[in-house]
Amino acid sequence: MVKYVFILFFSFATIVPCLLANIAYYDDVWQKRAEEAKKNTLEAYVPNPLETDEDADSQSMHIGSPPPTSMGPSSSTGVVVIKGGDNNNNSSTDQTVPESEVENSGGGDSNTTRRGLRQGKTMYRGPCEKTNPIDKCWRCRRNWSTDRRRLAQCALGFGRKTTGGADGRLYVVTDNSDDDFLNPRPGTLRYAVIQREPLWIIFAHDMNIKLNKELIMAGNKTIDGRGANIHIAYGAGITIQFVSNVIIHGIHVHHVVPTSGGLIRDSVDHFGFRTQSDGDGISIFGSTNVWIDHVSMSNCTDGLIDAIQGSTAVTLSNCHFTHHNDAILLGASDSFSGDQFMQITVAYNHFGQGLVQRMPRCRWGFFHVVNNDYTHWRLYAIGGSQHPTIISQGNRFIAPPEKELKQVTKRDYAAESEWRNWIWRSEGDLFMNGAYFIESGNPSLKPRPAKKFMLTPKPAVLATRMTRYAGALECRARQPC
Ligand SMILES: *[C@@H]1O[C@H](CO)[C@@H](O)[C@H](O)[C@H]1NC(C)=O
Ligand SMILES: *[C@@H]1O[C@H](CO)[C@@H](O)[C@H](O)[C@H]1NC(C)=O
Ligand SMILES: *[C@@H]1O[C@H](CO)[C@@H](O)[C@H](O)[C@H]1NC(C)=O
Ligand SMILES: *[C@@H]1O[C@H](CO)[C@@H](O)[C@H](O)[C@H]1NC(C)=O
Ligand SMILES: *[C@@H]1O[C@H](CO)[C@@H](O)[C@H](O)[C@H]1NC(C)=O
Ligand SMILES: *[C@@H]1O[C@H](CO)[C@@H](O)[C@H](O)[C@H]1NC(C)=O
Repeated sequence: MVKYVFILFFSFATIVPCLLANIAYYDDVWQKRAEEAKKNTLEAYVPNPLETDEDADSQSMHIGSPPPTSMGPSSSTGVVVIKGGDNNNNSSTDQTVPESEVENSGGGDSNTTRRGLRQGKTMYRGPCEKTNPIDKCWRCRRNWSTDRRRLAQCALGFGRKTTGGADGRLYVVTDNSDDDFLNPRPGTLRYAVIQREPLWIIFAHDMNIKLNKELIMAGNKTIDGRGANIHIAYGAGITIQFVSNVIIHGIHVHHVVPTSGGLIRDSVDHFGFRTQSDGDGISIFGSTNVWIDHVSMSNCTDGLIDAIQGSTAVTLSNCHFTHHNDAILLGASDSFSGDQFMQITVAYNHFGQGLVQRMPRCRWGFFHVVNNDYTHWRLYAIGGSQHPTIISQGNRFIAPPEKELKQVTKRDYAAESEWRNWIWRSEGDLFMNGAYFIESGNPSLKPRPAKKFMLTPKPAVLATRMTRYAGALECRARQPC
């Protein structure tokens, strides 16, 4: 949830009607950032991600045979139920999959809702494996620690252009303290993220960082936790507000709580007064080109990740989410039409133990949910309101045991007469334990995603394998990561 603070700031109120997110006083600097952010959003936005000019045939979104079963009215209402169930052990794709690629524990042929690896705190100790296209780009190279910026070439999906601090120096965080918000000490994470120049931020050693106020990031930054065990916990979270080009990789974010407002420096040449923070793990607000990869997130007071206020060109990948109610919110307001520009890829994540809902919950924009593994939910997995477009491909959904919780999808605040026109598609998803996805939108419309913007889905039987290393990795210098 996002707190809305409407502030009338002389006549500027009409220029930026949608103020909030803890900016207590909308001064000239924020005003300018907001305007610039709006420009960035429009520039990054891809008008028709489902249309392609070239190679339309090879870019068809079909990754296998048609869904296993469809029930209910399909042509007249635009609503289709796609369900799995006890006699549907196989994936709904007929694509041939090399046997070596299929996960042997719970990889689609069993009813297990548990996974052998990466549950709880157990770390995998076997040889390095690259199991999805993003990881293939950089993982398992011995020289990852001397070639860290390689990662900047690896983003895919809508956030594919994100390079973070690749053009800048390495900055090594040596100090885990956070007690001066106006003049942060050199060596702290807060000092690093407010710099004007691009920076690739790494950590000298393992650290628990308790942020005493929101960490407000400037653009062109990478926070790269590889090589250290970094926990941002028991304090405020990370705020990416009206900036562009940010990578967050390889850290743990959990037990984020609301913290008091006050004066916080948000760049070397500006500070401002903030209201109390919400307790979001990572808050992406009016920002473009943001890539969150291999982050382990759990148990924050508000959302784990919020991307709102026209944030676009965002990819959330390889994350491991656990123990949380409202996991991911993409668009916070039914009345803020600027969110129609949101284009977000959610790929290769493991939605695991103790999750309840919003994986993600979407509004207005375009959301590509591909090759994730959904092993737990207590209400629903994917939901939304305000006619979001949701393309779900190659995911595995394991429903909870209760009969009434089998539905993957949830439409909020809309009558069926309204939502049946929303484009929600499931293609090649694997449904287990009775999970089912209610599709909507004109069934004769065959959305064709543009490869350039959207990840090519792999068969859903591979989802477990592709997400096997989701969350922060344990990397050691000179060894494959
Ligand atoms: C799958 O597991 C659930 C929970 O243990 C159980 O209720 C259900 O009957 C199982 N289904 C099959 C096909 O084994
Ligand atoms: C599952 O896949 C195997 C091999 O592709 C096939 O032989 C079998 O008939 C399939 N079973 C179902 C229920 O589709
Ligand atoms: C599905 O798998 C279960 C055990 O994994 C097996 O007992 C059952 O016969 C299978 N059903 C089909 C249709 O293949
Ligand atoms: C790192 O190793 C890869 C091969 O594993 C090589 O292609 C690349 O050039 C190396 N990078 C650097 C900076 O040495
Ligand atoms: C980030 O880098 C780009 C390209 O170098 C530059 O145009 C832009 O102004 C930078 N943004 C910030 C916030 O420094
Ligand atoms: C989150 O952490 C708090 C404090 O440690 C704990 O009381 C609560 O049960 C946790 N919530 C979940 C969903 O795990």
